[in-house]
Amino acid sequence: ASAAGPLKDITNRYVGSAVAANHLASEVDYRSVLTREFDNVTPENEMKWGVVETDRGQYNWSGADAIVDYTQRNGKSVRGHTLVWHSQLPGWMNNVGAGELRSVVQRHITTEMGRYKGKIRAWDVVNEMFDDDGTRRASVFQRKLGDGYVADAFRWARAADPSAKLYINDYNTEGLNAKSDALYNLVQTLKQQGVPIDGVGFQAHLATQYGFPGGYQANLARFAALGVDVAITEADVRIPMPPDSTKLNTQASYFKQLWDGCHAVARCVEFTTWGFTDRHSWVPDTFPGQGAACLFDTNLRPKPAYTRINP
Ligand code: G3I
Repeated sequence: ASAAGPLKDITNRYVGSAVAANHLASEVDYRSVLTREFDNVTPENEMKWGVVETDRGQYNWSGADAIVDYTQRNGKSVRGHTLVWHSQLPGWMNNVGAGELRSVVQRHITTEMGRYKGKIRAWDVVNEMFDDDGTRRASVFQRKLGDGYVADAFRWARAADPSAKLYINDYNTEGLNAKSDALYNLVQTLKQQGVPIDGVGFQAHLATQYGFPGGYQANLARFAALGVDVAITEADVRIPMPPDSTKLNTQASYFKQLWDGCHAVARCVEFTTWGFTDRHSWVPDTFPGQGAACLFDTNLRPKPAYTRINP
């Protein structure tokens, strides 16, 4: 799409997208743009606990297997998403007693990481554990297991697949703010305690109406200085519908700032977007009246945001 070549060839960072197994199977153009432009894949929903173990002890790996198989055949890396998250949990979790929850979480991590051992470059081990004010989210894990669940999860993850990079991942932590301060303090403590954490993921679900996150590059840099990799893991920039050239230009400048900030920090190893085409995006379902948040339009034509990154 660009004179310089596809996105994955203009950078030494991994360039990825969230992907849905059903679209990968049924849409030839979706699959071909993914294959051409990106060298990392993050399953959008297929590896989540509520999907892989809807009924207790009954595993369904079909979507996850299909995506991992695609990446193996096409030489793509995988970001596994996600092991310990308060959302998209199976309903039966409500019936797990406090006394058995710890072993249930350990088994989940061990089973899922074990299945794909050696095939996943990086895992989002703990996802979205903070509220926006920087306090710990009152998830089932926090309430029933206490603060130690985070360190436990990373230790179990390391044991399950020693070759995978282990990440903590969150949103609204891109800039300097109370939430990113809390995350920073936690990662510093985990490192001091020798907990096996390798990286911090910044989701980067941005909206033009809220402005670009202040102190973005300095924030990435301070995390990197703790001795961890950093990654942009779920970037998208939603705009009020319908798009027009002004909005698309603002969106382009946001994507470009995200991209440049990552490239200004040596330990920023990955730039992954949360979907690549406006044909399929979580945004309109969650934020009615907003959308068009991706680099390619519904017909898989590159948008101004794409061209700004890759002229
Ligand atoms: O698969 C079922 C389908 O069978 C059913 O008919 C349909 C009816 O609603 O639902 C389908 O499941 C939906 C699933 O996406 C697949 O499309 C769920 O309802 C829906 O809740 C789910 O939304 C996902 C969301 O996470 C759940 O919290 C989005 O696709 C996914 O993009 C979004 O991703 C999250 C990251 O994991 C973490 N960071 C934020 C990001 C955006 O919210």
